[in-house]
Amino acid sequence: MNKTITVIKGDGIGPEIVTEALRVLDKIAQKYGHSFTYQQIDAGGCAIDKYGTSLPEESLQKCLDCDSVLLGAVGGPKWDGVDKNIRPEAALLGIRSAMGLYANLRPAKLFPQLSGASPLKPEIVARGIDLLMVRELIGGAYFGDHITEEKNGEKVATDLMTYSEHEIERIARTAFNTARKRGKRVISVDKANVLDSSRLWRAVVHRVAAEYPDVTCTDMLVDNTAMQLVKDPSQFDVVVTENLFGDILSDEASMITGSIGMIPSSSLGEGTRGMYEPIHGSAPDIAGKNLANPIGTILSAAMMLKYSFDMDAESEAIEAAVNKALDDGYRTGDIMSEGMTQVTCSEMGDKILENI
Ligand code: NAI
Ligand code: MG
Repeated sequence: MNKTITVIKGDGIGPEIVTEALRVLDKIAQKYGHSFTYQQIDAGGCAIDKYGTSLPEESLQKCLDCDSVLLGAVGGPKWDGVDKNIRPEAALLGIRSAMGLYANLRPAKLFPQLSGASPLKPEIVARGIDLLMVRELIGGAYFGDHITEEKNGEKVATDLMTYSEHEIERIARTAFNTARKRGKRVISVDKANVLDSSRLWRAVVHRVAAEYPDVTCTDMLVDNTAMQLVKDPSQFDVVVTENLFGDILSDEASMITGSIGMIPSSSLGEGTRGMYEPIHGSAPDIAGKNLANPIGTILSAAMMLKYSFDMDAESEAIEAAVNKALDDGYRTGDIMSEGMTQVTCSEMGDKILENI
């Protein structure tokens, strides 16, 4: 198969980790007889430096004109002061919105080799952690009106959280369809005891759930979910929630598995095209030192093969190669522990390549 992949290396450790992921994709292409064409574009802080905007029109066009997008990370302290409309993160919001990517899928899976890295008690970890957060990505408070105004001699700031039925319905379908391929359990997270948008959320999710009698659906309030994730994460299979709650809960879910450097994500819309990226940021503290963990980005590439290109065997070959590198004791600094062999970002790439 021929696929065109738009590649955004971005800022900080972005270029280092994406380089390793592209090496892995090249090896897969060679082994399985595919051809991947990469179109590299500038977005994020590096684009601000070059063009004065984090998402030049030409870059956006290449995201719309490809089979999928692979992203490293954007941002860093250098651009903290810039106007909010051209901030590095604005590029991501712009791409997600233009590509219609309304679903963010984030697996939180504990690698048994790294169980010691989980901050949870061993007896809780022993029950296993393998859940998938399905977060609504282009609605809610992040996309509602943001207003700061003067009222009665002081500043008043408002962020509007809005959801329509069709926005809730499509993300609910993503969750139920995904659950069918996993443990057939959906937990829908809201704050229906307080928020109108959550009451509508709950009603629409129940309506969709009725079409999936083979999948169980349970409601959970967001504050309780935050507690349950640390109390017994093994109870979760697919968790579906709105944008702001999902942002917070998916970070929490990632932390309980250990390293933030290990976790991939995908953002999907109606078609098969998606955007794939590790969940972490640009890690300015270790950028340019060949210290970053490339596994989150490599597993993001694996997700791209599975969800967008229908290449299940190829995707699983990458996962197996990562597992083997961990089994063999290789660790980047962020996941290093006693008795293991510490490797650099590019050495971890080498080890994974050898296993494919
Ligand atoms: P971060 O995820 O970049 O870093 C948090 C901590 O985790 C740091 O100590 C870092 O060294 C470590 N870390 C992250 N990824 C790692 C990896 N692959 N290997 C080893 N260690 C890793 O979060 P932070 O520091 O809050 O944000 C830094 C910058 O990244 C900010 O400008 C932020 O806006 C941006 N950011 C970008 C995101 C994106 O592009 N999707 C997402 C989150 C933050
Ligand atoms: Mg976040």
